[in-house]
Amino acid sequence: MANMDSTPSLIDPFNRPISYLRVSVTDRCDFRCVYCMSENMNFLPKRELLTLEELDRVCTMFISLGVRKLRITGGEPLVRRGIMGFLNSASRHIGNGLDELTLTTNGSQLARHADSLKAAGVRRINVSLDTLDPDKFAEITRWGRLPQVLEGIEAALKVGLRIKINTVALKGFNEDELFTLVDWAGGKGMDITFIEVMPMGDIGNESRLSQFWSLRELRSRLDSRYALDDLDVSTGGPARYAQVSGSSQRIGFITPLSHNFCENCNRVRLTCTGMLYMCLGQEGNADLKSPLRNHQGNDAPLIKAIRDAVERKPKGHDFDYSRQRISGQVSRHMSHTGG
Ligand code: 5AD
Ligand code: SF4
Repeated sequence: MANMDSTPSLIDPFNRPISYLRVSVTDRCDFRCVYCMSENMNFLPKRELLTLEELDRVCTMFISLGVRKLRITGGEPLVRRGIMGFLNSASRHIGNGLDELTLTTNGSQLARHADSLKAAGVRRINVSLDTLDPDKFAEITRWGRLPQVLEGIEAALKVGLRIKINTVALKGFNEDELFTLVDWAGGKGMDITFIEVMPMGDIGNESRLSQFWSLRELRSRLDSRYALDDLDVSTGGPARYAQVSGSSQRIGFITPLSHNFCENCNRVRLTCTGMLYMCLGQEGNADLKSPLRNHQGNDAPLIKAIRDAVERKPKGHDFDYSRQRISGQVSRHMSHTGG
């Protein structure tokens, strides 16, 4: 849908155009990664989730308001029943307002969905993977099994999906696999992005698996082995990229705890219950479920709720790991907001 003059794009108070919407379609997941969930999660009752029809309507609205990129997240998006139908339907916007439809997945269901994702116009996906050691994989994801994910990755590559691996950097956990992970990804033509662990959820500081590993340190280790050229490209998010010399592989660095990216922020996040978060690191939100549910035949309240929310988008976030304590901690789980 064209962004018509009657519906000017979403611009926040700091003059940042909002062109990227991340949508969590479920809080559920078939894994229980230690930095994301507790072992015994209470999931939301179905009636609290946006229906697939509501998701379609709100995404369509954002696209008509100038959003050009849609990322579907969770929880694990591919465990939501009917999700392929939603993606198929959303694909009608590609080339018609929408530049890209993409998703972030743990890979567990990729083997059976790779074909349909390709058919729905998805070209690139992010797959989360922290280790190539089956025992460590089982430890960090609690419920996940590595071979299933590797099979999913192979299936996706086979149908021609481009994959970026997302790896949470954890001190004492995957430090020893740094080069193994980069070389493995590079060998399959995949980019890889390292993510500093964020103070989300309720994983205690004491856990061996939640140890903060600074990407500054990770980067200097990479520099000891690879010739990396910093790239200027910004995706409007917290990622910075470098290119491995003599290869097409890109290595990304997501440092959500440093304040160096907020000024170009181009995104908002919708939870699976229809709450719009204007910043990953702030509590400020707006309820879009009410206008969606209470005004089914009238878009005006929904448009007003979206515009009012964007006008309240904060300048930046408050995460801070300084002085050995985590302040600015956000209490909601990543699986609600969508990483
Ligand atoms: N810190 C950093 N990354 C996290 N993810 C989930 N929880 C956290 C956290 N506390 C990541 C997942 C995945 C992406 C969706 O978010 O590993 O790569
Ligand atoms: Fe599931 Fe991703 Fe959270 Fe792991 S990080 S429990 S795969 S949503």
